[in-house]
Amino acid sequence: MKILLIGDIFSAAGREMIENHLDEIRTKHGINFIVANGENIAHGNGITTNYYKFLLEHHVNVVTLGNHSFANHDIYNFIDDAKNLVRPLNYPGNVPGQGYVTLRYNNLTVTVFQVMGRTFMNSSLDCPFQKTEELLNNVKSDLYICDFHAEATSEKIAYGHHFDGRVNIIVGTHTHVQTNDAHLLPNGTMYMTDLGMTGSLDSVIGVESSLIIKKFLTGLPVRHVPCDKGRKQLNGLVVEINDISHKVTNFEIINMVK
Ligand code: FE2
Repeated sequence: MKILLIGDIFSAAGREMIENHLDEIRTKHGINFIVANGENIAHGNGITTNYYKFLLEHHVNVVTLGNHSFANHDIYNFIDDAKNLVRPLNYPGNVPGQGYVTLRYNNLTVTVFQVMGRTFMNSSLDCPFQKTEELLNNVKSDLYICDFHAEATSEKIAYGHHFDGRVNIIVGTHTHVQTNDAHLLPNGTMYMTDLGMTGSLDSVIGVESSLIIKKFLTGLPVRHVPCDKGRKQLNGLVVEINDISHKVTNFEIINMVK
């Protein structure tokens, strides 16, 4: 089977790339299963019912979230009924929604889950490593796909090595910058530190550059306004997995600029 993983879809520019180009990518690569990060899809912050449905209508099988999971209040209206939506598994308390979902594709069970890193992130989170161990012990599946939503490259790489051979695909999200390190780890896990973002290229990770430059030049707070002008990008990774051996047989980086 061929799996497409799409990095953080950011605001209107990201939605436009999905609307105009996802079908073409899906057909060109013969994609069977899509995982997309949607935590920034609503005006750069959070997700709404309509945008969740928009992704499902574009054949996304699982939508993952991140540190902005609960940024748009509409999430509370639908998260508990959203069967194809995954928020980080390692929230410490009793938080709405689910940290993983297991779906069937042909004869395979596919478990998609998300954990958040703790370095430079929310320090009250539970340990992503321990939460993953618990998941692997308790949820039996043919394939495991992890969206590791984290800031620090070292934390992501350490996580990749720790679960090498036990999680089939580990891809990072959150930084919005695609890393040039997609590779198979020694025990066969497909690993990439960050998929990159889907949205405005001529921006500072999705936001109007002038605002972020002002913030760095003055130290004053600014309101983040998504950039919808200029070039747009769609970033992700295609991974081919043998349906019988469950081994990764091929992969291709997606870095489309329009
Ligand atoms: Fe994030």
